[in-house]
Amino acid sequence: MRIDNLKGRLYRGVLAATAVALSLTGGRALAQGAPTPPSQARDLAIGVCGTCHGVDGNSTNPMFPRLAGQHAWYIEQQLKEFRDHTRGDPYAVAYMYGMASQLSDPTIDALAKYFSRQKTGPGKPHPAAEVAEGNKIFHQGIPSQGVSACATCHGPQGLGSKMFPRLAGQHAKYIMKQLQSFQGDMPNVAVMHGVAATLHKAEMRAVADYAASLP
Ligand code: HEC
Ligand code: HEC
Repeated sequence: MRIDNLKGRLYRGVLAATAVALSLTGGRALAQGAPTPPSQARDLAIGVCGTCHGVDGNSTNPMFPRLAGQHAWYIEQQLKEFRDHTRGDPYAVAYMYGMASQLSDPTIDALAKYFSRQKTGPGKPHPAAEVAEGNKIFHQGIPSQGVSACATCHGPQGLGSKMFPRLAGQHAKYIMKQLQSFQGDMPNVAVMHGVAATLHKAEMRAVADYAASLP
């Protein structure tokens, strides 16, 4: 199936699901200020976000980042950046701007907690040679190109913390796409723009494969 067809179908389906989910809440709990009950966040996560990200945040399609075990603070920030239109990759514009525009701060908070508490799947095997090269870049950086070790911020196991997103078990294709965007300065993220600036494509792929293979 062509990805465009899939995208169109998914998007129409999801827009309908969002309308239903939001009307079920009666708008009340989505008002700014009122805390969103965890059960309502779970329904929204399963019924709406789950269509793309997987009901437990372990999406299978690499176009949709895994959210399971991601840090709540990071998820919250990203959702606010989609809502404020400050994170603007084409996929973010196409998929997440509409989603996030419907979310109040308390709902964002509750959704972030829901996904951060989901169990992560095991890492996925990737070609051994790339994983070995990626391992080296992840832990030592590439001093001759001024690339910092990823582990410094994302942790030795790629688990991250608070503002540093978890990379372990994330889809390699998504990591790769993000690195290319950071290099192109699209999401305006100064730290990662600096890190990715001199990375070659093969190096990005190696480090993405390594991170994706981590449990
Ligand atoms: C129609 C598909 C779709 C739906 C439904 C959807 N998302 Fe997304 N989401 C995406 C795509 C695609 C991206 C990747 C954007 C990019 O490439 O920059 C994304 C990215 C994200 C990110 C950033 C993750 C990261 O690692 O940086 C978060 C957080 C997120 N979505 C949360 C949600 C939540 C919460 C919901 C439900 C309210 C939701 N999404 C519903 C498609 C979707
Ligand atoms: C100095 C700290 C620092 C270093 C070193 C660093 N990162 Fe990051 N990285 C960050 C921060 C902070 C973010 C979150 C940016 C944001 O808020 O969007 C991030 C985000 C990312 C993302 C996006 C994740 C997602 O879910 O969308 C990827 C992929 C990534 N980094 C990969 C790497 C790789 C690979 C390396 C090593 C080559 C690396 N980073 C080195 C700080 C760092």
